Amino acid sequence: MPYPYQIKTLEQYHEEYKKSIENPEAFWAEIANQFVWQKKWDKVLSYNFTEPKIEWFAGAQLNITENCIDRHLATHGEEPAIIWEPNNPEERTRIITYNRLHKRVCQVAQMLTNLGVKKGDRVCIYMGMVPELAYAVLGCARIGAIHSVIFGGFSAQSIADRLEDAQATFIITCDGAERGSKNIPLKSVIDDALIGNKLVKKVIVYTRTRTPVAMLKGRDLWWEDEMDYAEHQIEKNGVVSFPAEPMNAEDPLFILYTSGSTGKPKGVVHSIAGYMVWANYTFINVFQYQPGQVHFCTADIGWITGHSYIIYGPLSAGGTSLMYEGIPTWPDAGRFWEIVDKHKVNILYTAPTAIRSLMGFGLDYVKNKDLSSLKILGSVGEPINEEAWHWFSQHIGKGNCPIVDTWWQTETGGIMISNLAGVTPQKPAHATLPLPGVLPVLVDENGNILEGNGVSGNLCIKQAWPGVIRTTYGDHERCRTNYFAAYPNLYFTGDGCLRDAEGNYRITGRVDDVLNVSGHRIGTAEVENAINMHSGVVESAVVGYPHDIKGQGIYAYVIFEGSHHEENLTKQDILQTVSRVIGAIAKPDKIQFVSGLPKTRSGKIMRRILRKIAEGETSNIGDISTLLDPAVVEDIIKGAQ
Ligand code: PRX
Repeated sequence: MPYPYQIKTLEQYHEEYKKSIENPEAFWAEIANQFVWQKKWDKVLSYNFTEPKIEWFAGAQLNITENCIDRHLATHGEEPAIIWEPNNPEERTRIITYNRLHKRVCQVAQMLTNLGVKKGDRVCIYMGMVPELAYAVLGCARIGAIHSVIFGGFSAQSIADRLEDAQATFIITCDGAERGSKNIPLKSVIDDALIGNKLVKKVIVYTRTRTPVAMLKGRDLWWEDEMDYAEHQIEKNGVVSFPAEPMNAEDPLFILYTSGSTGKPKGVVHSIAGYMVWANYTFINVFQYQPGQVHFCTADIGWITGHSYIIYGPLSAGGTSLMYEGIPTWPDAGRFWEIVDKHKVNILYTAPTAIRSLMGFGLDYVKNKDLSSLKILGSVGEPINEEAWHWFSQHIGKGNCPIVDTWWQTETGGIMISNLAGVTPQKPAHATLPLPGVLPVLVDENGNILEGNGVSGNLCIKQAWPGVIRTTYGDHERCRTNYFAAYPNLYFTGDGCLRDAEGNYRITGRVDDVLNVSGHRIGTAEVENAINMHSGVVESAVVGYPHDIKGQGIYAYVIFEGSHHEENLTKQDILQTVSRVIGAIAKPDKIQFVSGLPKTRSGKIMRRILRKIAEGETSNIGDISTLLDPAVVEDIIKGAQ
């Protein structure tokens, strides 16, 4: 049996779950023993959720790249680690074997060392979905540098903020990125982000699109040149290798920025050993991965899903990960199905927003594709509605593929609540049961734990699991107040949740001011701050509303007092401002100009009212008697979009 800790029956799930909760140390020690350690741990787990201070496998030393690459070389060095499908279907597919991946990651490690990158340095990676992005991530891990991948859709201003927060000293980027019919000029965005930055020493540029770029003497270097040079340095008798730096189990592996309900995005920090074990365990169990299968996770590596289920999960399992450069609808809405057919994909893991959008194009794009290789389907990032679930099951899975509805977050490192494909029961639109190691509790507003089934409340986790967030970079207090302060001794997820009569969990959505737009997490405060940067804007309030494809859309109420107020043009200006400050993903879908916002006497905006109006509710607004100026509501309803 290739994965001794792969759960095969419902009965076994219950046994393993019980063990994991009653004796987590013994449970995880047995699993961790399957990995390569340079030194074993002194203690499996010690933690408190008050500071918080969480340590898994303390005293151990390891390098995650030995677990993701080196240990597979002897047995299946010539098997594909990554299958890369380009944006343009006419272009050649690239197959990267484990031997090749090893070579490239060693070259990156040497290249970074040549440039002066040291253990613990923060390296920002801003690239399109090319194999070199995976090499860059793993090359950092090989030498113990902390990678911080930034999604290619964020603006120069967003990148500048992240560089500053992470105190990053090196950047790896591309000249440009291909996405559908678009060419995104990544290097030029980086140039803008670096205006005024004094910390970044080197920018390495990989050539993808042959877009002309400015190369600053002394700072900017070509990936190709540096990689060639590194190869010559470390090649001996035709073999290229670079020793994996011994790392402490709790050393940080990466920082990934994500939005919260207040202020700027925060840098979620994951540490090496716990994250590795969690990404691997969840990958093998949820997807029931079998050696040789092709796993296609459609996420971007700029998000946690790509980190855990394109790179670290599949590679730590010695699996084959399909990485796709483009978008679902280019050159047409059949692209995913074509990729499944072409590469005989066995596991397809995607987001409800993609399913809903492809559903809308009809079945013509599915009809002539052979999808018979598919064994398991997965959904992530937002609640999946029943219609999309059934369409996915029937038309893509042909009624034969279990669907895993996986609930988790950037902060949890890997999947937390999900059925195990074909092993534990599935229920449309329900994430179902917690994975071993995960102890969910529901609490009411006063922090009382709700016992029994058939209850709903705020979702918290009571016990430390290996993949839990360790800190927010540079600001531990923020980590405490965001996640560990709302309820004593509990990790608070920010999600509302229902536990049905059988004990299945159903996530109902965020209970804080965080939106989930096409599976992307966006803080309302962030969007408001961006809108308020426009010179004519006095104040704004942003709420979410149900959107057929995106799950949630962004609705902005704006008080505008600028000159030359021509409504349509001003709306465009505001959208442009948001694109500049955050990125196109945060552009409001609707903007309504208002003369005032519904505020209480103490000056607090009553978002409940704004949400109702955005949802199209005009008659049943609820109590407005505590408002400073109730008449404002009437005006807003009249102008609603
Ligand atoms: O609200 C939940 C929603 O996405 C949030 C986490 O977003 P992010 O950190 O960007 O990570 C997304 C990928 C893991 C959660 O707080 N969410 C995620 N998965 C599901 C979900 N909501 C319902 N069902 C899911 N399966």
